[in-house]
Amino acid sequence: MTEQSAKLAIAGTDYQLPVLEGSVGPDVVDIRKLYGQADVFTYDPGFTSTAACQSAITYIDGEKGILLHRGYPIDQLAEKSTFMEVAYLLMHGELPKQAELDKFTYTISRHTMLHEQLATFFRGFRRDAHPMAIMCGVVGALSAFYHDSTDITDPEQRMIASHRLIAKMPTIAAMAYKYSIGQPFMYPDNSLTYTGNFLRMTFGVPAEPYEVNPVIENAMRRIFILHADHEQNASTSTVRLAGSSGANPFACIAAGIACLWGPAHGGANEAALNMLREIGEPKRIPEYIARAKDKDDPFRLMGFGHRVYKNFDPRAKVMKKTADEVLKELGKSDPVLDVAKELEQIALNDSYFIEKKLYPNVDFYSGVILNAIGFPTEMFTSLFALARTTGWVAQWNEMIADPEQKIGRPRQLYVGEAARDYVPVGQR
Ligand code: ACO
Repeated sequence: MTEQSAKLAIAGTDYQLPVLEGSVGPDVVDIRKLYGQADVFTYDPGFTSTAACQSAITYIDGEKGILLHRGYPIDQLAEKSTFMEVAYLLMHGELPKQAELDKFTYTISRHTMLHEQLATFFRGFRRDAHPMAIMCGVVGALSAFYHDSTDITDPEQRMIASHRLIAKMPTIAAMAYKYSIGQPFMYPDNSLTYTGNFLRMTFGVPAEPYEVNPVIENAMRRIFILHADHEQNASTSTVRLAGSSGANPFACIAAGIACLWGPAHGGANEAALNMLREIGEPKRIPEYIARAKDKDDPFRLMGFGHRVYKNFDPRAKVMKKTADEVLKELGKSDPVLDVAKELEQIALNDSYFIEKKLYPNVDFYSGVILNAIGFPTEMFTSLFALARTTGWVAQWNEMIADPEQKIGRPRQLYVGEAARDYVPVGQR
């Protein structure tokens, strides 16, 4: 590794800054010691040029449309892996050997049930509560139910909390759905796969046996894998920031869920499907394309564009293929899918979208699939949260174990008043 440095000149003084090399991807200018040597901060709202941590979990090359988990390309994982394998890979760094996979799968399955008193907690929500509101509340509340896994200084407790979070998230998401439609909660069935169990808890009822459709199960497996982790996105950074203060893992994941809820992040799948429905038929697409390009109109094409990908989001390609498979299996033709395909073609050939490098992202087709499977739009972001929990947990564990990690504490460019004296109310 060659030792490089960068030179920063401010008011006639030069400052040497070390340049760090990653295993792949751009080098990083290390500015940790800059403030102290010089009386300046760096300014980067939105962190467009700032690495907030080092990580060995996920690598993205946005220009080339590459996404790797621990080095493995996402399309290979989505095609060949189980979700349990990917969860293990994210957490432990290597694909598991058969015995390791069996043990991990067994451990997760032993944590799928929720403390029975949590059912009462659910019943405190209004019936029309958004599932993400319920998930924020219930996941945060896990810290009140599982005291024996909140000591973050104990690696064993950290691992138990991680297993609990991955295992319980499908149960929580399914219960949020059942509660909203007034059906009884379904207990987990550990003889099923992670995805099969989730489908049964969501769509099954106690009065009848539920048979998992293998095509739908496979689509859910892919959706979960495609959403499992995505480097230092807003919700993952939120989990890390919350965790950097020493907060317990359940509280940190609840913070991640809150961040994911926004329409610029995880809420985009819901927003994308609503937009496709609103467009309704291909002949109305030009009107919406014109609105997306109009600077005076806040409308954006939902499911298009990405902070990092300036090329096709590799996850979107797998989603498109899955959408076709699911609709074929269900024998459905969905006008929304026709609108989506046509919209994609028109946008990809439009100079505005070409120049700004705006391509479909993972959320563009996921809504079409989830809708065909039978999930109401309000559930979409909860499914994303369920799958992303594995990534959040892996990133949180990596952060806690990193000796260089400090409490996250950004600085600011202050633009308010300078010091001034208090004026009594009668003299203002
Ligand atoms: N439709 C129309 N124009 C767009 C879109 C879009 N979807 N996305 C970006 N642009 C334009 C912006 O108006 C801006 O134009 P300008 O340079 O003339 O001002 C330019 O492209 C750059 O956009 P920014 O908002 O600066 O890019 P940023 O990286 O901050 O935003 C984001 C990325 C939030 C994803 C944005 O593309 C967007 O809002 N997309 C729609 C929402 C969405 O699909 N989010 C899901 C992201 S993926 C995920 O979270 C899993």
